[in-house]
Amino acid sequence: MRKRFLAPFVLSALFFAACGGGQNSNSEQQANNSTSGTEGAAVDTSMVSPGANAPVAKGKTLIDDQDCKTCHKEDVKLVGPAYKDVAAKYTADEATIDKLADKVINGGSGNWGDVAMLPHPSLAKEDAKEMVTYILSLK
Ligand code: HEC
Repeated sequence: MRKRFLAPFVLSALFFAACGGGQNSNSEQQANNSTSGTEGAAVDTSMVSPGANAPVAKGKTLIDDQDCKTCHKEDVKLVGPAYKDVAAKYTADEATIDKLADKVINGGSGNWGDVAMLPHPSLAKEDAKEMVTYILSLK
């Protein structure tokens, strides 16, 4: 249990470390470029906004915005399998992420039982892949 909860923190720590590095070099640039004050400020805000560019965090945000949680939970099977069970079943390679993203978009049953997942035809393929990447990171 503990380990599973630790992983996202480690990931976000890494992300913030990387982000902090970027920010430093960015403020150096700003110092050289002090005439464009407002533009510099705008760049700064986006750098500080938490987790905005981390792929895994993006997948989670996308999932939170969708109906996924009516049928899925991270740890517990509801209508659909728990995300951690999905993560345990598959390897997070490009082909698998692609296949599961199609499944989220098209819906269907058969891999976990007879109950079908609803299709999500309005989802962009790229967004579906972000979601699957997040789900498969929950090992
Ligand atoms: C109506 C309930 C329902 C909703 C809403 C739903 N799912 Fe599912 N999901 C299921 C069921 C049931 C399965 C098992 C399908 C099977 O047996 O192949 C499943 C399976 C999955 C799988 C594994 C697919 C496989 O073939 O192993 C993933 C990944 C997944 N869902 C992600 C999502 C995401 C992301 C969303 C939101 C965009 C979502 N689900 C919304 C019911 C749902």
